[in-house]
Amino acid sequence: MSKSEPVTRRTMLKSILAGAGVAAASAFIPRCFAAVGGAKIKLGLMLPYTGTYASLGKNIDDALRLAIAERGGRLGGREVDYVVVDDESEPAKGAENANKLVARDKVDFLIGTVHSGVAMAMVKVATDNDTMLIIPNAGAAAATGAACAPNIFRTSFTNWQPGFAMGKVMVGRGQKRAVSVSWDYAAGRESMGGFKEGFTSGGGNVEKELVLAFPQVEFQAILTEIAAIKPQFVYTFFAGAGAVKFVKDYAAAGLKNSIPLVGAGFLTDGTLQAQGDAAQGLETTLHYADGLNLPKDNAFRAAFKKAANRDADVYAVQGYDAGQLLAAGLGTVKGDTSARKEIIAAMEKAEIDSPRGKFTLSKAHNPVQDIYLRKVTGLENRFVSVAVKALADPARGCKLV
Ligand code: BEZ
Repeated sequence: MSKSEPVTRRTMLKSILAGAGVAAASAFIPRCFAAVGGAKIKLGLMLPYTGTYASLGKNIDDALRLAIAERGGRLGGREVDYVVVDDESEPAKGAENANKLVARDKVDFLIGTVHSGVAMAMVKVATDNDTMLIIPNAGAAAATGAACAPNIFRTSFTNWQPGFAMGKVMVGRGQKRAVSVSWDYAAGRESMGGFKEGFTSGGGNVEKELVLAFPQVEFQAILTEIAAIKPQFVYTFFAGAGAVKFVKDYAAAGLKNSIPLVGAGFLTDGTLQAQGDAAQGLETTLHYADGLNLPKDNAFRAAFKKAANRDADVYAVQGYDAGQLLAAGLGTVKGDTSARKEIIAAMEKAEIDSPRGKFTLSKAHNPVQDIYLRKVTGLENRFVSVAVKALADPARGCKLV
């Protein structure tokens, strides 16, 4: 047995067979897993607990723990230990933070994060160290595209998915002239790119893409430019505290009634209380909505409210599903984290019974899921229709596809 290999039923059996002079012992190891006692499974949570995306990170964290608590606090029969790092949505600190969890804390799984730039730093660390990674939000295309890998999974979306769906919706309504607005980083650029692809495929034209640096919220110059261009509507990607400010500023600038504002659903998810009247009537596209009325969603919402004393949102759903995906992988091998191939195979073929509706993973390990059109009504992102059914990200550049 190598020094670094954890002692499990399988590794123990391997060394006994080796000691008995049995050649190619692993070929004869039966693929049945007995519960691995002793050490806890270590999950390294790297999420934003401060800054613009703090509320997003907190909901992912609470819902992930809820999914595991519902399984008696165990994954594959083993207790779970959490190591938590605040990534501050700061890409420059991403590699160092992820390396700490992998090298110092020796976590079995990395879980994170919200910000696409930080997530790509985690992807690199996970790839370099062959560590299992589950992304419960960040939609960076490369994570399940050019940088896809057997050990990298996502339970959320790609930035392309909601954007593309909104492009289809608006062109389906005969709209022709749009302006897009976002932060100038991967999530914003890719969300606008997805929208453009859907919109132009039906003859629409994006007249201008307006950006400002993340996480800036000085929107005045952008709002003035929108008023001057006078597009038929504006598509936008903002999330968290930035989304609250943008929606309020857009209404305060008097644009809301003359130039409709639409967006990826992050614009109004988890933000409606703070946005108040300014958000009423806004339409967005996302893989979650209020009023789905699925038994799984109803149960999840009640359980999350009880556990966290807050209402669930899309971020909570994605964190919960990260817990469900872990349970699917580790349940199959009874907690034996050394059975990597079997864990990956089980995760790849899992059908996740998500509050958003059931989904499976693509070959690139990204959800294939319905994207809903929603409309803000009171404090809800009310389900309107399915904008695109079972939408898979194109996974451009992924060698697993
Ligand atoms: C991202 O950086 O990928 C992201 C952040 C917040 C909401 C959605 C996506």
